[in-house]
Amino acid sequence: MKTLDWTTLFGERAGRIQASTIRELLKLTQRPGVLSFAGGLPAPELFPKEEAAQKAAEILREKGEVALQYGPTEGYLPLRAWVAEWLGVKVEEVLITTGSQQALDLLGKVFLDEGSPVLLEAPSYMGAIQAFRAYGPRFLTVPAGEEGPDLEVLEETLRRERPRFLYLIPSFQNPSGGLMPLAARKRLLEVVMAQGLVVVEDDAYRELYFGEARLPSLFELAREAGYPGVIYLSSFSKVLAPGLRVAFVAAHPEAILKLTQAKQGVDLHTPVLNQILVHELVKEGFAERLERIRATYKAKAMAMLEALAREMPEGVRYTRPKGGMFVWMELPNGLSAEALFQRAIAEEVAFVPGAPFFANGGGENTLRLSYATLDPGRIAEGMRRLGRALKGLLAPA
Ligand SMILES: Cc1ncc(COP(=O)(O)O)c(C=O)c1O
Repeated sequence: MKTLDWTTLFGERAGRIQASTIRELLKLTQRPGVLSFAGGLPAPELFPKEEAAQKAAEILREKGEVALQYGPTEGYLPLRAWVAEWLGVKVEEVLITTGSQQALDLLGKVFLDEGSPVLLEAPSYMGAIQAFRAYGPRFLTVPAGEEGPDLEVLEETLRRERPRFLYLIPSFQNPSGGLMPLAARKRLLEVVMAQGLVVVEDDAYRELYFGEARLPSLFELAREAGYPGVIYLSSFSKVLAPGLRVAFVAAHPEAILKLTQAKQGVDLHTPVLNQILVHELVKEGFAERLERIRATYKAKAMAMLEALAREMPEGVRYTRPKGGMFVWMELPNGLSAEALFQRAIAEEVAFVPGAPFFANGGGENTLRLSYATLDPGRIAEGMRRLGRALKGLLAPA
């Protein structure tokens, strides 16, 4: 049979789409017996399985001709209207997307040309870096920690550069778990507004706060100040079920229109059945569901923090999350997280090394632990194993 050299047949963009080495590492986390803190997977015990089964059957029986038909690109109107009311915006300011991941790709498509500067935090969400990278931008990065991006560096960067947008995850950042305080949000917006820049606010973890209340989003603060330049992304993945792939963008109608046109060429629309199902699931009892989810993640986070305090050797630094799904860790003395990963797998525990979360390199001594998926007992056992792996790495050979 004739063979083809596919790499010479693909376009230039294909060269920028690379399988990350991390994916290879992550395959190891699926070995039986491994306790994995690697994936950012929501807790499966929180999925509304029974309710979804019942409602899906009802939808197909009673609204089958809508649920199984093509739908509008902007989204199923009752769901768009529900989201609009929830966020306090107009229906034409909302676009339903197939996961927030799709919104990230659409933003890349709409805003980025080859070589366009785009500013993001270091570290930032790997899926966003991957989505934007395909469009060949020039990444500008700003260090980010427990209190979000370093505003001094950010302001200094914006004196030199004019990024097409700033991509930020102000609440319970993936991977760092950071939470930008209110004052920092306001200061950031002042700078952005003065320069007329676009901010893409990814608020995937908006409802997963452990404290009393949610901080106002950049989007909300900007609207109060009459500034239309914040594009807001969030998703039903962390509060219902990621497999449904239903998420949303809220933004100025002109931005929504362009994103909608870009979406038409990708998938015409997000599956209608899934959108109706999401609408049915959030219409009633959503507030109670959110309370339950918050309580579950808070308990898991506390279990991880208690176990870390017991098991981690001196010199290891880690964040104390105020919400979200992650603990972010820095290893001492420039120890490599990839080296630790190999030892951890031998101990049957896994995490994600931090380096791929840095768009411009660095972070070799960092790693991310997700407490979302396992129960507190297994979290404690996992941290015991991680402690053993780390002590093995620290011990002189
Ligand atoms: C910050 C952030 N943005 C977007 C996504 C993708 O979410 P979705 O499931 O809605 O595509 C994730 C998923 O982990 C995330 O952490």
